[in-house]
Amino acid sequence: MIEILKSNLKTEIETKLQNHYSEKINLVVETPKNSELGDISIPVFSIVKVVRRPLLEVVEIVREMIESSKYKDNFSEIKKISGFINIKLNRIKVSQAVINEFSSNQNYGNSNIGIGKTVVIDYSSPNIAKPFSVGHLRSTVIGHAIGNILEKLSYKVVRINHLGDFGTQFGKIIYAYLNFGDKEKVKKNPIDELVKLYVKFHKIAKDKPEIEEKAREIFKELEQKNPKYVELWEYFREVSLKEYMKVYKLLNVEFDHYDGEAFYNDKMASVVKELREKSLLKKDQGAMIVDLGEEYPPALIQKRDGSTLYITRDLAALFYRKRTYDFDEVLYVVGNEQKLHFDQLKAVVRKMGYDYYQDIHHINFGLVLQNGKKMSTREGKVVKLIDVLNEASKLSLKYINEKNPSLENKEEIAKKVGVSAIIFNDLKNYRANDIEFNLKDMVNFVGQTGPYLQYTSVRISSILKENQIDKDSIDYNYYTNDYSYELIKTIDEYRDILLKAKSEYSPSVLAKYLLTLASYFNSFYSQEKVMVEDLIERNSKLYLISIVRYILDDGMKLLGMKVIKKM
Ligand code: ARG
Repeated sequence: MIEILKSNLKTEIETKLQNHYSEKINLVVETPKNSELGDISIPVFSIVKVVRRPLLEVVEIVREMIESSKYKDNFSEIKKISGFINIKLNRIKVSQAVINEFSSNQNYGNSNIGIGKTVVIDYSSPNIAKPFSVGHLRSTVIGHAIGNILEKLSYKVVRINHLGDFGTQFGKIIYAYLNFGDKEKVKKNPIDELVKLYVKFHKIAKDKPEIEEKAREIFKELEQKNPKYVELWEYFREVSLKEYMKVYKLLNVEFDHYDGEAFYNDKMASVVKELREKSLLKKDQGAMIVDLGEEYPPALIQKRDGSTLYITRDLAALFYRKRTYDFDEVLYVVGNEQKLHFDQLKAVVRKMGYDYYQDIHHINFGLVLQNGKKMSTREGKVVKLIDVLNEASKLSLKYINEKNPSLENKEEIAKKVGVSAIIFNDLKNYRANDIEFNLKDMVNFVGQTGPYLQYTSVRISSILKENQIDKDSIDYNYYTNDYSYELIKTIDEYRDILLKAKSEYSPSVLAKYLLTLASYFNSFYSQEKVMVEDLIERNSKLYLISIVRYILDDGMKLLGMKVIKKM
């Protein structure tokens, strides 16, 4: 409500100023950093240069214009402070508008901006026969949250897991499996054993480089669908996916498609053909490249032996997605280290003459650090994600046992708290930054954590209990004190926050907002008695906090966290 009021006021005063000074003016209408100054602030000094009149005069003219504004009923105080005009709003009017908007909307915070638009999100995308890394966890969590936020804003979202299930490494794994693999061991513990085989392959190749050539041949035959190799490849893919599914199940993440790199095997020839027809392919020491000039190193499209590369498959995937989903945007949730790859991808698409290169967005993210160091191995061993998730659940069970030992379904709840804690720890930081992974800190019920949000929601639930709330007996006077009004204003911001999270493709905007909302609630609750005798007052306060809980729960769900009823 306040944002709309600000923008209406801006238009009105700009028009009036233009009539007055015959000068086109861009007026800044902002929210003061310090809420004690008011709800709206207009820095008048910034237009003095344009109208070439003394500051005091301009301030006075703008003040008069605001006094006589169409929207003046909403203002309770208009004050000049040096070059600024600060406006306090009528808190009753604001509360009324915000509460009404909430009451009349089943899906508060939503928006129509995405209607008719499709966004493809490529995320998670682990590599077959390799462990699911913490990097893939980041991609999964960030991509999932962005998808949820987009859906709330009415976008159609297509969620794709672009599995790394193709490439020369499969020739190596197949060679190793056939020549020195132990079928039983692989069956029991597929990913670990396949990784071991892969490592062993490289060790042996040091003395016997000719096996590299053998692996390349195997991969070529795999590309040409040699049934023996295809069968093995399918087996590796299946057992790997089975492992990943455990993680997805814990995180409650689903995809519309698991079209990995191999899916594009038969779709690359046409890409190469088109590149050739557009005279973009160049021979370079037997390989095929697209020259990207000064800006980027050339994109390697085809190796000397005719086999294709990661970027070739990404080009085929992109064209397939455009044809199949006719997307308005395609997002690739992939770590910072692949920036060059996506820059090259865009550059090639641009050279091919497709305008939609502009709709390709690399949603990059930073590393996961533990004590400041990259967290991918621990004492030489690869960190297994499923272990980390389980560890988080164990730790939250310990906290629950300290706080509320008689809680029912403790294990179940601890799992929800632990996993959500990891998700929140990831999302509260701007994605491109590295994040610190400290289980103890993130599972804590106090501080800027997931459990803190869950706990606040549970706290509100326990206040609301079985109380019936009557939306029609609200007295807005109870929302005019500072603590309530902060809540009203924060509730009012929800949609704008989601829109901002979309435009920055950053769930952290939402995560931080939820922390603010929770902390305003906690201040409110420490100052205001809710369960008072007066029924109207009690009802009004209960309704207010029920809205806070709605947003906390809705926001947590969008982030991919679990909402908890008791803890
Ligand atoms: N499998 C890749 C990796 O783990 C990520 C794939 C990202 N998506 C894409 N279309 N390139 O590095």
